[in-house]
Amino acid sequence: MLAEPLFQISLSPLLKWAGGKRWLVRHLEPYWRIHRHRPFVEPFVGGMGVTLGLLPKKALLNDANHHLINFYKWVRRGLNIDIPLVYDRNIYLTHRARFNQLIREGRADTAEAAALFYYLNRTGYNGLCRFNASGEFNVPFGKYKTVNYQTDFTAYKQTFCGWVFTSGDFSKMEFDSDSFVYADPPYDVEFTHYSPGGFSWADQVRLVEFLEPHRGPVIISNQLTDRIYDLYKKFGYSVRTLSAPRRISCNGNRQDALEVLAFKNIEP
Ligand SMILES: C[S@@+](CC[C@H](N)C(=O)[O-])C[C@H]1O[C@@H](n2cnc3c(N)ncnc32)[C@H](O)[C@@H]1O
Repeated sequence: MLAEPLFQISLSPLLKWAGGKRWLVRHLEPYWRIHRHRPFVEPFVGGMGVTLGLLPKKALLNDANHHLINFYKWVRRGLNIDIPLVYDRNIYLTHRARFNQLIREGRADTAEAAALFYYLNRTGYNGLCRFNASGEFNVPFGKYKTVNYQTDFTAYKQTFCGWVFTSGDFSKMEFDSDSFVYADPPYDVEFTHYSPGGFSWADQVRLVEFLEPHRGPVIISNQLTDRIYDLYKKFGYSVRTLSAPRRISCNGNRQDALEVLAFKNIEP
């Protein structure tokens, strides 16, 4: 079933986002094609690589990052950015300071905050989204040859209009029992209790427990680790592995990292 599918790219991701799964779309599309009449649910939507690749009509898209979801909510309303989008260090620092001011003033849900978030994401170091202990966005200026900015997002408005956005922990989500769930949690980092994104082993377990009662199709992707494999098997998933387009160091050698696709209530 992981053979070459029909693959259509319609809309490109708007943001740079760690762990983007655009590359997985061609592997997921054959499954989605059979179930595309169902509502699509993505608890960890991140950079939206998969949703924009599969283009469901109805979707519930969630992420713990409130700024990210605020940006998507404004795109859904037809965001048009009117702040200066210029690749310049001083402008970056000014925009970053203004974004932090909006957060302090409790105005992080405004169109201005969404526009600044977009600018900071495109211009900051590696598209990182990081905050200091006082909740201030503190990513340094990123060094690029050029940065392409988009000001008019109305092309996304029609696609986004059937999509509902929520922000918070995945466990707060409520969705129809026939929904097609694609879950892409932060990677399991074996041998550490806490992963850099703050997603612990207990969270990985919590996710499969949360999805346990769901009757519709579920696909989870993750980095292949022994304990992730065992966890998904223990909860009755069919598990397939594939090569990921990134490399890991193993005993001094660089080798392809392996990705897991775990299937429940769906033929793998
Ligand atoms: C691997 S990324 C998802 C990438 C996405 N599939 C894409 O293609 O761009 C994981 C996402 O999970 C979010 N996240 C982390 N902990 C979460 C939680 N407890 N509940 C919901 N989202 C969470 C992060 O903010 C991040 O955007």
